[in-house]
Amino acid sequence: MTASIFILTGAGISAESGVETFRDKGGLWSKVKLEDVATPEGFSRDPEAVHAFYNARRASLLGVAPNPAHYALARLEREYPGDVTLVTQNIDDLHERAGSQAVIHMHGELSLSLCVHCGAKAKAESDLSLALACTACGTAGSLRPDVVWFGEMPYRMNEIYEKLMDADLFVSIGTSGAVYPAAGFVAEARTAGIRSLELNLEPSDGTFLFDEARHGPASKLVPAFVEAALAP
Ligand code: NAD
Ligand code: APR
Repeated sequence: MTASIFILTGAGISAESGVETFRDKGGLWSKVKLEDVATPEGFSRDPEAVHAFYNARRASLLGVAPNPAHYALARLEREYPGDVTLVTQNIDDLHERAGSQAVIHMHGELSLSLCVHCGAKAKAESDLSLALACTACGTAGSLRPDVVWFGEMPYRMNEIYEKLMDADLFVSIGTSGAVYPAAGFVAEARTAGIRSLELNLEPSDGTFLFDEARHGPASKLVPAFVEAALAP
């Protein structure tokens, strides 16, 4: 029976595509107060400022492209004979643009809007603002970015834990291990006797919990990992 692989990615996998990470030197949280733009309280205090923050991040994604790490994971999904689950904390669409078909965005997606009135999600075709109305229920000023903020529950957690517990190998790529519940996946894997591998530029907060840790750029480590996983 071919081993099933559960992959978690974080901002680090998109770093070489030119997308800012959060906690690296010069990262996003050193420039913007996350309490202002990544919490429900911040949004209720100043929704237009939060819209402007995510509108700018959405616009900047138009100028970046997937890197070899994203393409390698798409190849793994296509060619690996066993199950592959890809869960990302990232809200960018670089996995999809590299060809990954089944991506679980546990922190939501920058490309989507969410209506706080009826819960409808829609493609954010243009900048979001309070001036827009929900196309499903017609409520004006009811749209927010479909991004899970601090203190909110991530998406599809039951499915994520089921897949994690069914895996034979847990691979964590490009995440600092600073935020739960994603940061707790390696401990869950360990308790369940699931092998774990960290592929990260530098040791993460939870690096000591992994069976193996390889440190370096994702654009090098991930294609090498996939090549080995696909070797006959
Ligand atoms: P946490 O307790 O894991 O906090 C991690 C770090 O985030 C903290 O060390 C702090 O630096 C910062 N932080 C978190 N909330 C903050 C706040 N209100 N003000 C200032 N700094 C804050 O994070 P959490 O608050 O328990 O959030 C975890 C929940 O939020 C989880 O459900 C997680 O999926 C969800 N969430 C977190 C993030 C995130 O960016 N990390 C994004 C989306 C969703
Ligand atoms: N290759 C591999 N890893 C990299 C690279 C790279 N080229 N560049 C940076 N990294 C690593 C860093 O060493 C760091 O451990 O990626 C990690 C990025 O960590 P964070 O900036 O904390 O990003 P992430 O772990 O995804 O943050 C988790 O916090 O604020 C929230 O919603 C946000 O989903 C995010 C969550």
